[in-house]
Amino acid sequence: MRVKVSAKKILLVLLIAVLLVGAAALAGRHAQPAARPDHDDEIVANYGDQAGTMVLHWRGPDATVFFGRDESYGGTATATAPVITPVDIAGPFREAKIDGLTAGTVYHYKIGDGADHTFKTSPTGDFTWVDIGDVSSTFKDPAAGSACDTPWVADHWRQIAQEKPDFLTFGGDISYANKCGAGSVHQFFNDIKPVSTIAPMEFAWGNHEYGGPTSPPAPKGTPRDRLDNYKGRLTMPNAQTLANDTPSRLNHPGCPAVAPATTNSCQGEDWGWFDASGIRFFLWPEGGEYQSTADAKAKSDPIMQAAQNDPKIRMIVIVAHRPVFSSISAEHPLRAELQDAVDTLHGKYPKLRLYLGHHLHGAEAMTPKNGVTYLTDGGGGVEEVRFPTKPGAFTSAGSVFHSSHPSHLLGTVSGNKMTLKFICGPVYGRNPTKDACTQGDVMFTVNMDLPAATG
Ligand SMILES: [Fe+2]
Repeated sequence: MRVKVSAKKILLVLLIAVLLVGAAALAGRHAQPAARPDHDDEIVANYGDQAGTMVLHWRGPDATVFFGRDESYGGTATATAPVITPVDIAGPFREAKIDGLTAGTVYHYKIGDGADHTFKTSPTGDFTWVDIGDVSSTFKDPAAGSACDTPWVADHWRQIAQEKPDFLTFGGDISYANKCGAGSVHQFFNDIKPVSTIAPMEFAWGNHEYGGPTSPPAPKGTPRDRLDNYKGRLTMPNAQTLANDTPSRLNHPGCPAVAPATTNSCQGEDWGWFDASGIRFFLWPEGGEYQSTADAKAKSDPIMQAAQNDPKIRMIVIVAHRPVFSSISAEHPLRAELQDAVDTLHGKYPKLRLYLGHHLHGAEAMTPKNGVTYLTDGGGGVEEVRFPTKPGAFTSAGSVFHSSHPSHLLGTVSGNKMTLKFICGPVYGRNPTKDACTQGDVMFTVNMDLPAATG
């Protein structure tokens, strides 16, 4: 059958085709290039031992990281396998040390041909940082109890990323894998991506990092968590080893042997320290470890002495898992041992003026004791702690603020002032009205004077 097509119709079709091609060309000119996806996960940046050194960690196929002051990169570093290997999930796990960087500088990096990320080297001048603890993850094993359903922790990481801290300190009890299932570790190291790909994250360990399965709600078959799952994914700056973390130690602070080896599979990296623009931060070991507090007290002494004698160091801060003082009375004589350590070190080195504890799942500010300010910052989101109900309990304990709502600390060093603000976190879904606050609001502020920076 023949079909007659008029010249008018042919012209019309041609005109439409030209218009469509033109529109596509215009759209292409204005389109943003699609962001490259990452081919690796669990990306996290850590400070190295010096201000010009960073260590990047990730899990996946790529072994090269490209870095530089902008997205043209220019530098490359080749990853190696970390000395300590996580055991909760298959790798490959990788770490890449980058030396010779300039302090107080933002660097871009990409892993393989992955997305562009940034970190800032150890700050110089004024800076901000976030402290948090006791978070857990968005991993949800159907067999786990409802206490493991904590979707708001992802929102907490997004909120912190929007605050653009120069770095973050984490005071232990990280993924709660011993309570919610082994998959929590991997999920935690992906939940943190909004923060871990813009700022270094410096961790102290908590008791959950080696905790046995809780019942309920741990899913059946949940293994005891192990410190190699954390030591192997992170680098502790200026790493220290507890005296009892020996090659033959097969439980915390060491780890069960991994066949065919028969020795401790995670020796070392029990605690550490780093400097940020004249503030020396100690990441103390888990206080519940046998003799860990006495060990940290003794080995911190010469490091604090050097800080005390260094005119560039303006304050010493301890970030540790367990609080020393709280309106919640518990864990004696452990607290007495911690208090003795802090009092003794402050007596010798008065630059030690701030102790950030965690472990109790809320926020609390205490009046300074013997020259040291004690704050509890365990409101990462895993649970809400129950504070005392007796009216006089807070006054008698010297507690000036408390909240069980999810929160974190936003620290600012500006000129001769350090400001510590408890920031309201996301709504705690299981109990949304208790200690209710508006996300992002300042719940309580502590101001501390700093001596002038020198050098
Ligand atoms: Fe804890």
